[in-house]
This record gives sequence, C-alpha cells and structure tokens, in this order.
Amino acid sequence: MWIARSKAELEQQLATSPRPVVLVPTMGALHPGHAALIDLARKHAGPDGAVLVSIFVNPIQFDKPADLEKYPRTEDADLIICRNHGADGVFIPDAEDMYFDNRSITVTETHLSKHLCGATRPGHFDGVCTVVLKLFNLTHCDAAVFGEKDFQQLAIIRRMVRDLDLRVQIIPHPTLREADGLAMSSRNRRLTPEQRADASRIREALTLAAQKPSPSEILVTAREIIEASKLTKIDYLAIVDEENLQPTEQITRPSILACAVFYGEVRLIDHIRIPKA
Ligand code: PAJ
Repeated sequence: MWIARSKAELEQQLATSPRPVVLVPTMGALHPGHAALIDLARKHAGPDGAVLVSIFVNPIQFDKPADLEKYPRTEDADLIICRNHGADGVFIPDAEDMYFDNRSITVTETHLSKHLCGATRPGHFDGVCTVVLKLFNLTHCDAAVFGEKDFQQLAIIRRMVRDLDLRVQIIPHPTLREADGLAMSSRNRRLTPEQRADASRIREALTLAAQKPSPSEILVTAREIIEASKLTKIDYLAIVDEENLQPTEQITRPSILACAVFYGEVRLIDHIRIPKA
C-alpha cells in the first residue's frame, strides 16, 4: 500500500494506477464505519481496480477553531485499518499543499444545505463540497463511497455531481452503529465515559419518536427523551423531506427525523427514516 503525502506524490502514484479508481474520502480517526466504506470500495473496484483512501482534516469545513484543533488524529492506527481492509493507496496531504493562501474559489450549494447542519454550521458544506471536488479532481476517481450517517452531506455531494456534471459514481453505505445504537463517529472518542453511556439516548429517542403518528408528536417525543439528560443540549431536531431536505409539517412523502446534539463541546448527529403514515 502506497502513501502519498502531497499532490505531487499522488500524481506520481496515479500515473501507473489501474482503473477503476474508487475513493473513500475521510478525515481520519478511522473506526469500523470507515472500514466498512473501504470494504465496499474494494468490492466496487474489483481485484484489479484501485482503492484509494484520503485522510485530510479539512480546515475549511470547521466552523469552530476548537473543533478543528481537537479533532482526533490517529494516523498510525488509520494506516493499519487502510491496509487491513485492502486499500491500495492513501493520500494524506497537508493543508498548505491543498489550499493556496489567497484561494478565492469555493463550491457553494444553495438549497439542500440551508437547513439542519447547514443552518447551525455556517460555511460547513461549502468547505465539504470544495474539498470533495478537489479530491475527485486530484485522484481522477471513477467512484467514491460516502456514509449515509452524514445524509445531508451525501445528498449535497450527489447534487454537486449532478449539477457540475462530474464523472464520479457516488456509492452510499448504511450507518454502522455501536452495540447500544450510537452511530459510530470519530467524535465519540472525545466523550467522557458518562457522556458516552448517556449518548445511546439519541438513537432511542429517534427510534421511539419515529413511530408516533404526527409530526408534532414525533418532535415532542424525541425532544423529551433527549432533554431528559442533563448532559445534552439539542443543536437542532427537525423533520425534513428525504429528497430536498426542506422542513416538512406533514408527512406525505418519505421524510427524515434528524438531530444534532451537543455533549459539552462534542456535537453528534443522527437521523432516522420516518415510515409514511
Ligand atoms: P469523516 O467524518 O471522516 O467521514 C468519512 C466518511 O465516513 C463519510 O462518508 C461518512 O459519512 C462516513 N462515516 C462516518 N461514520 C460512519 C458510520 N458510523 N457509518 C457509516 N459511514 C460512516 O465526512 C467526512 O469525513 C468529511 O466531511 C469528508 C467527506 C471527508 C470531507 O472532508
């Protein structure tokens, strides 16, 4: 497995790379959720294709400097996971190589990113779209795997591919969860043991709430369960249309109940599909 630490090194490695190239973009601190994405990439690439993992804690998608600073960095362990799951190459650029000081072009999505994480993290999805487009261009990938855990991110990237005519197939992967239901996340390791034990209530809240018959009951139920804990603060809790991610008052189309919850400074997201009444 090769490692490229700059755009120039990547270009060199790719000169002799077989096709298809399947990319798994990550910010590192890899866990079994990421590993499952690499496995799926391996399946899509087939025995002769190339699986590429990028590890880059993308500074321009963080709205809070403290979150960027405290983002876990576990490169040695990450590389072992990449190797064990059949990656052919890993791209680990640094921010100076990725971004010019006076860069002046950003990719902005203007509809799907208005609500949920887009509303409470200004500029976040501009940063995500910009880096993902750069990674697609740099790796010349044919396909890329993204987790459904970040369903708004997945929808926005699909929209970017559609609207900008990118020749990249987007492959989704379902959310991997811990035994108690908590969605796996690199941020989970920043929780205290007490917060970690409490965090299973997020899944419990969404699961129980999604069974209620009306949007108002769904929201009240989820809020009650989450706010029963003194350790949490809700960032947002909303029902949105699954396709256009706009808030919906009546569930006539496939919808999603989504939330972001703070444990101290650590912000966790999760969502669930609401069965149509
Ligand atoms: P990161 O949070 O590292 O996630 C990388 C990929 O892993 C994303 O596609 C995410 O949805 C997926 N993932 C994370 N946890 C998962 C889980 N429990 N189950 C399944 N998939 C999971 O998302 C990013 O990085 C960045 O925004 C990135 C796309 C790399 C751009 O910087």
